Amino acid sequence: MKSEATPEATDLAAEHLGDVISPISSGRVPRHVAVIMDGNGRWATQRGLPRRAGHRAGTENIRRVIERFADHGVRYVTLYGFSTENWTRPENEIRAIMRLLGYFLRREVNNLHRNNVHLRLLGHLEHLPKHLQRRVLEAIELTSNNDGLTLNIAFSYGGRDELVMAVRRLIEEGVPADEVDEQCIAHRLYTAGSPDPDLIIRTGGETRISNFLLWQSAYAELYFTDAYWPDFGREDIDIALAEYGRRKRRFGGLSDTDPL
Ligand code: IPE
Ligand code: IPE
Ligand code: MG
Repeated sequence: MKSEATPEATDLAAEHLGDVISPISSGRVPRHVAVIMDGNGRWATQRGLPRRAGHRAGTENIRRVIERFADHGVRYVTLYGFSTENWTRPENEIRAIMRLLGYFLRREVNNLHRNNVHLRLLGHLEHLPKHLQRRVLEAIELTSNNDGLTLNIAFSYGGRDELVMAVRRLIEEGVPADEVDEQCIAHRLYTAGSPDPDLIIRTGGETRISNFLLWQSAYAELYFTDAYWPDFGREDIDIALAEYGRRKRRFGGLSDTDPL
């Protein structure tokens, strides 16, 4: 069964329309899926390759993953690419990861734009090398009027840092204490305008959140898989979405099937 994908969402799948979309067990598709793309280093080490080769392979995986989510009708995809804590990694690894963001944008932006994808960056743009900042801004600008799938790239992103930034903005804007509510905070997060993630997937076998979307994940369904990010493919997505479809979300209330 094909999910009720909007025309915009299916645009991205246009290049492989001949593909058979495997059925997922429930019609309930998450509107927003966020992914902690972990396991690149171990993927490489396992093959006797340098860690940067894993980051490269991980970057190559991004397109097919976005396409698959779009096939299913997911409207927002957030990818965690580099955390505020990842700055503590060795300089050569950081440099390789920065280069790969540039490579990804160079190679993918036109395709994303053609497919009506709206690209956003969550995180500290100003911490990136200048030429990369320019490239990111160009990509954001180019796709800013697109109303298809929203692709958030979390890069130099930390959930705690995001909250600190939001609090600073509240204070700078002189918002009175008794006017501070949840909406007011949500509007000042990097994700303002995107709904909270319905599903957070973490690849690479660790079962932690690693400072990702701390505020927004309040009622997200969490899904962990041992697959390393470069190996996480279409079938894995189908399985994760099928599992999501079986979850009973209650948001603190009762579900329709709970006995009264
Ligand atoms: C995820 O892969 C990418 C980043 C954190 C930048 P890792 O580099 O963390 O890979 P592992 O966890 O060491 O295998
Ligand atoms: C989380 O992975 C960050 C990204 C995937 C970008 P890490 O590899 O940095 O997380 P920890 O250190 O295992 O918690
Ligand atoms: Mg890791």
